Amino acid sequence: MISAIAGEGTAQNRVSTRGFLADVLAGLTAEPKTLSPKYFYDSAGSELFDAICEQEEYYPTCTEISILRTHANDMAKAIGADAMVVEYGAGSMEKIRILLDALVTPVAFVPVDISEAHLIASARDLSRAYPSLAVQQVVADFTKPVQLPAPPRPVSRCVALFFGSTIGNFDPDPTVAILRSIGDTVGPEGGLLIGVDLQKDEDRLVRAYDDAAGITADFNLNLLTRINRELGGDFVLKRFRHLVRYDRDLGRIEMHLESLVDQSVRVAGRAFNFVAGETIHTENSYKYTLASFDDLATRAGFRRDQHWTDGEGLFAELFYTRTP
Ligand code: TRP
Repeated sequence: MISAIAGEGTAQNRVSTRGFLADVLAGLTAEPKTLSPKYFYDSAGSELFDAICEQEEYYPTCTEISILRTHANDMAKAIGADAMVVEYGAGSMEKIRILLDALVTPVAFVPVDISEAHLIASARDLSRAYPSLAVQQVVADFTKPVQLPAPPRPVSRCVALFFGSTIGNFDPDPTVAILRSIGDTVGPEGGLLIGVDLQKDEDRLVRAYDDAAGITADFNLNLLTRINRELGGDFVLKRFRHLVRYDRDLGRIEMHLESLVDQSVRVAGRAFNFVAGETIHTENSYKYTLASFDDLATRAGFRRDQHWTDGEGLFAELFYTRTP
């Protein structure tokens, strides 16, 4: 049964050009300069992101996939039969297939993502592969509350899935706010299965975000290409470089775009000056311990039931239930 075929999903909190412009102007005016990572995912960015996940240095993807493969049945048991599963930041929907194969009569799959074209194409592929599953995609910025579609039959509970350590891209306070809003979305009996990247040796971390093939660099620089195209910017890409550093105190990887020269760049008719070595901070990726992530989840009203990790302890899948 297909209750919402690809293209018929709902759109909420869509990225508007006006919002993009306002955010870019504010970010380039700020000291230090920043740009929001949510704008990485135009169609070129989404493709580059999928390519990052295939790089050898980028261990989170294959590690998480192997955790899902090894423990899918236990995860399905924790989720229970007849659930509605809501995937935040669904992307290309590869990981969900592992879980869908193990889940007992799931009622509906609701992928939520900000990248509309990518979401629709992936939802269509998925619904072809699982013809009896209702795929009800929602185009939305999941940092804001998401309204779930009506399921085609009664559900036992709603369980949110949040893979890929995407939660790690938010600062701690917004993380608590997002987790709390996920709790509101899944409701009183709701669950949350979330993938979190764990703290580890600094070299390994930096290499994951600075792959030898330069795909992550292209992904980061693509933000400037998008600004040039959509907001009438004149960034010269050769005058910036991808820069990665690990802040041990904050436990986070930082991605920046570093200006290689003194220069002035125009966006939408406004000029922004850079001195050589100045950076635009584009993204963070927080690395947790089980205890440090539990701390945030507890603040957001979740209690951890179980967790699964790989042999090396690189990555963890945590299962939480909402506390009343
Ligand atoms: N959330 C994942 C991480 O932080 C994936 C990711 C988001 C990512 N943005 C990225 C990976 C930029 C590399 C570069 O690891």
